[in-house]
Amino acid sequence: MAKDGNEQGSGKIGINTRLAHSGNNPHDYFGFVNPPVVHASTVLFRNAAAMADRNQKYTYGTRGTPTTDALAHAIDALEGSAGTIVVPSGLAAVTIPLLAFVSAGDHLLIVDTVYHPTRNFADTMLKRLGVEVEYYAPGVGAGMAALIRPNTKVVFTESPASNTFEVQDIPAIAKAAHAAGAIVMMDNTWATPLYFRPLDHGVDISIHAATKYPAGHSDVLLGTVSANESHWKQLYESFCTLGCCAGPDDVYQVLRGLRTMGVRLEHHQRSALAIASWLEGQKGVARVLHPALPSHPDHGLWKRDFCGSSGIFSIVLAGGGQKEQHAFLDALRIFGLGYSWGGYESLAVPVWLGDRVVAKAPYEGPLIRLQIGLEDVDDLKADILRGLAAVTA
Ligand SMILES: Cc1ncc(COP(=O)(O)O)c(C=O)c1O
Repeated sequence: MAKDGNEQGSGKIGINTRLAHSGNNPHDYFGFVNPPVVHASTVLFRNAAAMADRNQKYTYGTRGTPTTDALAHAIDALEGSAGTIVVPSGLAAVTIPLLAFVSAGDHLLIVDTVYHPTRNFADTMLKRLGVEVEYYAPGVGAGMAALIRPNTKVVFTESPASNTFEVQDIPAIAKAAHAAGAIVMMDNTWATPLYFRPLDHGVDISIHAATKYPAGHSDVLLGTVSANESHWKQLYESFCTLGCCAGPDDVYQVLRGLRTMGVRLEHHQRSALAIASWLEGQKGVARVLHPALPSHPDHGLWKRDFCGSSGIFSIVLAGGGQKEQHAFLDALRIFGLGYSWGGYESLAVPVWLGDRVVAKAPYEGPLIRLQIGLEDVDDLKADILRGLAAVTA
């Protein structure tokens, strides 16, 4: 089998094979299995004519190297995209495409359940630059058509929702947006391209915090943004204009993580589902917000569009407030209290929903988000029981 994932091309190749072999061709670099980690600003040209024409594959470190290309090509093979940019964080993977496509006077629709720093960027910098920002409910579906205005440029989606895990009807939203000439972007970090391929469902720009599952070890920040054919040129040109390139060691670490992402995700998925369904029967838990559970209001939509679930979901405690929330968190010994997710270790965070303007569903009690790591399920259950016991103590 050819070792270059791009040559493999066909959709028939299994996902773990694709993860293992996509991105670089070992025979481009003397047969070494992994690509070189190229530390570069300057790239030399053979002569003045080549310099004048910029007529060679690499011209300057900010515009791409064999290391960034290896990761970008591997992501393209997973996403089915025309091109991918690699940026220094997941947040940069949100802000750069927005800056690339919205202008003063444009209207931007963002799902109300979005990752909070995305909202913060829109409410501060984009508003200052003259962009009209409006938030819509995650369940809008085909109702998106009624929200589109003549100046709507981008519809920003994130599914499942940050912290509360509502699933969006991406094909219906994309249909309405495209009918009005708007672009659809999606933060697809939760599912990764293994469990949802946004471009296959009508999304134009797919965004990932590669910090999470691709990196997988809580030690790297990175983002990727992948575009379909018609939006790739503008995305890449904006990326070059902004100079927001990622460091080579971080890019390499994420490519390394990608090789094992399939097997890690399967484990995250299995453990998270086992714990989520067990939690539904636990005293002190009012609800479990995990779209792969049949009890979830958007389970049907998840089942229709996704082919797997990852390791993060939330629980709603049966009553109480911050005191109970803190009691739960402070009793945990294996779950760490810290932001981010997608790493090998389990984490818990208190959920804050005070920023929402339309998706303010009433909950029975405080919410806690759990990232299920690679530890043994029985140990994690015992830890959660310590938390639940502390709430009632
Ligand atoms: C859905 C989502 N998108 C983007 C990001 C940002 O990623 P990063 O931490 O790499 O900036 C996060 C981080 O938690 C996230 O949860």
